[in-house]
Amino acid sequence: MSTLETVAKPRKTSAFKQLMSMHWLMAGCYLVLFTGGTLMINLPEDTPVQDAFYNFHKSMGALTMGLLTWRIFILLQVWWRKYTRRLPTLTNEWMKKFALHTVLYLLMLAVPLSGFFLSNSYQSGNVPFFGITLPDIFPENQAVVELARNLHFWLTYTFLAFIALHGIDQWKVVRATWRRIVSAIRGKSVSRGG
Ligand code: HEM
Ligand code: HEM
Repeated sequence: MSTLETVAKPRKTSAFKQLMSMHWLMAGCYLVLFTGGTLMINLPEDTPVQDAFYNFHKSMGALTMGLLTWRIFILLQVWWRKYTRRLPTLTNEWMKKFALHTVLYLLMLAVPLSGFFLSNSYQSGNVPFFGITLPDIFPENQAVVELARNLHFWLTYTFLAFIALHGIDQWKVVRATWRRIVSAIRGKSVSRGG
């Protein structure tokens, strides 16, 4: 059973559907950030192309922070609707999933924050959001740039490792959903044919 699965029909509530739409939207953003991030650091240094990639990466990273705030708000709605009806049964399975999802949420916050730490420490006013300069979260401080760079590197790849763990964990759910979709499509085409 998952963190969000304690009452009979949690998946059917509109809040849960919204949460999953946000989940896939953000998963798409992370895919762009991971591929773009590894690509941009290998581009020729200090070229307009590399600058454009960095600006896009920072903007997308900042976007995920905004989406995360919204996602937490939806998650609270889901929890409110579920847990005011019945408290969760604290099985090992439930606690394992709760811990994994909590780590994922913490990393969804820590990774972009470390990106801000890196960019702000390097230079003040260095984080654009699709053309608008965002205010600094951290002071400019050249002395911590290398530390911030290492932090962003290690946090992003720890995040990736946890995403992989989560993907493996959820694989059965994904496979079952896929089978349901395929059989629904087949069902439709059979009824049309008949
Ligand atoms: C890209 C990064 C990803 C992150 C950060 C992430 C995080 C999460 C979190 C925190 C939840 C709990 C629901 C929520 O609060 O949104 C969740 C649910 C879920 N995730 Fe992911 N996820 C990611 C990618 C994936 C991938 C690649 C798969 C497919 C293998 C997947 C499949 C699922 C499924 C099926 C659920 C629903 C679980 C349930 O029914 O309770 N996720 N994910
Ligand atoms: C969830 C959000 C983010 C993800 C998944 C992500 C991912 C990555 C990855 C994979 C790299 C390449 C690391 C390497 O292999 O050395 C990278 C580099 C970088 N990221 Fe992010 N990032 C995110 C958010 C941000 C944000 C919000 C900023 C700034 C505001 C940022 C600034 C940077 C910078 C400046 C680099 C280049 C580091 C260098 O030159 O060594 N990132 N990021």
